[in-house]
Amino acid sequence: MPTTLGPLTDFPIDKPTPVTIDGDKYLVIRPSENPDEVCIVSDRCPHAGLSLSRGPRGGYEDGVITCPWHNSRFDVCSGENLDWTPGVAGVKAPKWSRRLIAMGKSPAPLTVLAASVKDGQVVVDR
Ligand code: FES
Repeated sequence: MPTTLGPLTDFPIDKPTPVTIDGDKYLVIRPSENPDEVCIVSDRCPHAGLSLSRGPRGGYEDGVITCPWHNSRFDVCSGENLDWTPGVAGVKAPKWSRRLIAMGKSPAPLTVLAASVKDGQVVVDR
């Protein structure tokens, strides 16, 4: 059943906005490359389940969100993992240490929700 999150204009461009949908935390991203659309991703990193929006360092830029904990990077519209545990808290680590930082977890995509904008409203299609 579709869920309406509110007017598109409530979501600032290039600023991931936290929302809760059915008790789970997500981020709504309205990319400057296409401000008439939104991408919605889980606010839980698939590496260790930590928040993507709260932590020591991280952030969003050019369609990519960086986990603030171990620096994994994800495409916010496809969820594709672009880099897996390359460091800690924004500091790049030597390549040999990535497997240690990964703590045995293999690269995984970020959960993405199907979303659209209908009559100026952001709608989650599920
Ligand atoms: S919790 Fe996100 S990279 Fe480790």
